[in-house]
Formats: sequence, structure tokens, C-alpha cells
Amino acid sequence: MNRISDGSGHDGEDGLMQRMLFENDLPRASPVAPFKTQLLKWIGSKQRSAQQIISYFPNEFDRYIEPFLGSAGVLATLAPKRAIASDVFQPLIEIWQTLHDAPHTLKDWYATRRRRMMSGDKVGEYEKIKASYNANPNGADLLFLCRSCYGGVVRFRKADGFMSTPCGIHTPIDAESFAARVEEWRRRTAGASFQVMDYVEAMRKARKGDLVYCDPPYKDTQKILYGAQAFDLRRLFEVIGDCKRRSVFVALSIDGTKRSGDLVCDIAMPNGLFEREVFVSCGRSMLRRFQMGGQTLEKEIVADRLLLTY
Ligand SMILES: C[S@@+](CC[C@H](N)C(=O)[O-])C[C@H]1O[C@@H](n2cnc3c(N)ncnc32)[C@H](O)[C@@H]1O
Repeated sequence: MNRISDGSGHDGEDGLMQRMLFENDLPRASPVAPFKTQLLKWIGSKQRSAQQIISYFPNEFDRYIEPFLGSAGVLATLAPKRAIASDVFQPLIEIWQTLHDAPHTLKDWYATRRRRMMSGDKVGEYEKIKASYNANPNGADLLFLCRSCYGGVVRFRKADGFMSTPCGIHTPIDAESFAARVEEWRRRTAGASFQVMDYVEAMRKARKGDLVYCDPPYKDTQKILYGAQAFDLRRLFEVIGDCKRRSVFVALSIDGTKRSGDLVCDIAMPNGLFEREVFVSCGRSMLRRFQMGGQTLEKEIVADRLLLTY
């Protein structure tokens, strides 16, 4: 099987690029169609590569569990019948729960804030919404901020956890388009139960035959985002090991490569935990574009590693 790594964990640049080209040139048949329309703008969103990621999921599994949900790009592309979708970030899960329980409220949250912002002083109104979020972190403000902030990069100040991203230069999508997205996203995520949980608790719920897809905060590039501090990957590997012993399938996305093959984070993988490793291309890094003032960086093609316990 040509996608299996040699197990060394240290691919030379040539080997890596060959595999990336292989993935790009010959996309694996996926059981799902691509789904490009985003509900939230979220740094690290996997929506663009979700179809490829899903092509490596087992042909059959029971429940789908996504414990680092973020903007739910993989969940919505997969549209599973039964799923547990969780994240430790409470205001984010409030958005997802409202999508389910009160979609009109979600549409209203967006429409009222957009109306205020577009009625006059765009930046001033944005800053008021940001101040409201920072005084009392909540899903309604977060929803609008992620769609209207600069580069769609919701960023939190290290010192005090305040959301610090300035106003975006773009015009946020109109309320009608957003409302149409709400309907589509509600339909696609109807099988999921949304919960605020640490990943350890979420993965404990996995039973034999379930599939867990993990997309943890990146070790290096994402520690300033989502209020996440240092993320302990070793602990995650232990929890994945427990899942594997219970015959739960686990797929793990991990920061891969940037700048034509340089390894950004080279983590020691526990021996025997993963059976396969594939590379999934995910386009240009939004975070780097943000850091570089919106320039498009031709060399910043990012490929994620996808590690599979099956
Ligand atoms: C890389 S993002 C996931 C992106 C997602 N796949 C998407 O398509 O948008 C990582 C997510 O993990 C969440 N997170 C960070 N630490 C966590 C923890 N200990 N338990 C559960 N979720 C956590 C963050 O809030 C963030 O939403």
C-alpha cells in the first residue's frame, strides 16, 4: 500500500513531496461530495480538506466523535447520522447548540449585529461588539466577530485572554446568505449532539466500532489561538492508545509541512500507535497570511499529516 509510511517518522523532503503530489494528482475516491460553504470562519478549519480526510475514514463505523470541533468542517462534510461533537470552548459550542435548538435565534444574532455594523461607523461598531464579547464571552458576539474580523482569525491576547483581532476590511456576507447557510448547516449536523467537554472526556465516551477524528490545536502555530495554552500531545497519544485498545478507530490530523516540505513540528510518535500516515494538502495557511499582512504567500502550501490507528 503506497500510502503507508516507512515508519521512520523522518521523511526526506523528496519523499514527502512525492507523496503530496501523489495525493494531489490522484485524489482518493471519497464517499462524500465536497462542501465548501462555511458557517464560521475559523483558523485551522479543515473544511477545504474534509473530503480528502473523510476518504481515509473506515468504510463502516458506528458513531462519529469529533472532540476538537472548531468550525465543524469535517462534521458538516460527513453529515453523519449519529455523532458526538464537542469542544472545550464554551461560546463556540453555544453557537452549535443554538444552530440546533433555535436556528432563528442564530440568524437574528448575525443579522442584528451586521445591521448595526453596516449602518454607519463600521470599525466603531465592530469594536463595541468585541468589547461586549470580552466583557462576557458569548456565542452571539463570537459568531459575528469570526465572520467580520480581520482575515477571519479569531485571536486571543495571551496576557488576559481578550479577543484582540481588529475589524476586517471585507464586508461580512449579507443576512439572507447567512440565513441560508444556517438551514444547510442545520440539516447536515442534525445527527450530532453538541457538548462542551475536554477531549479526554469526549474520547472516553467512544465505544468499540466508533470513529474519533481528532484535530487538536497545533503545537507551534496555534497556541495563541482559541485561548489554548500549551497543548500536551503526549496525553492525547495516551488517550488515543486507550481508544485503540477498545477497538475504537482514531484518525488524527497534525501540523504537517510548510514552505515546500520543511517540517514545522516533528513530534515523536509512540511506536505502534498508528498503522498508517498520509498527507492531506490543505492549501495556503490563513494564519501566515494574517501574520504577513494579508499577502498571498506562494510557498506557504500546507499539508497536514493524517495518522490512522487502523
Ligand atoms: C485546530 S482547531 C479544530 C478545527 C476544526 N477541525 C475545524 O475544522 O474548524 C482545535 C480546536 O480544539 C479546541 N480545543 C483546545 N483544547 C481543547 C481540549 N483540551 N479539549 C477539547 N477541545 C480543545 C479549540 O477550542 C479549537 O476549537
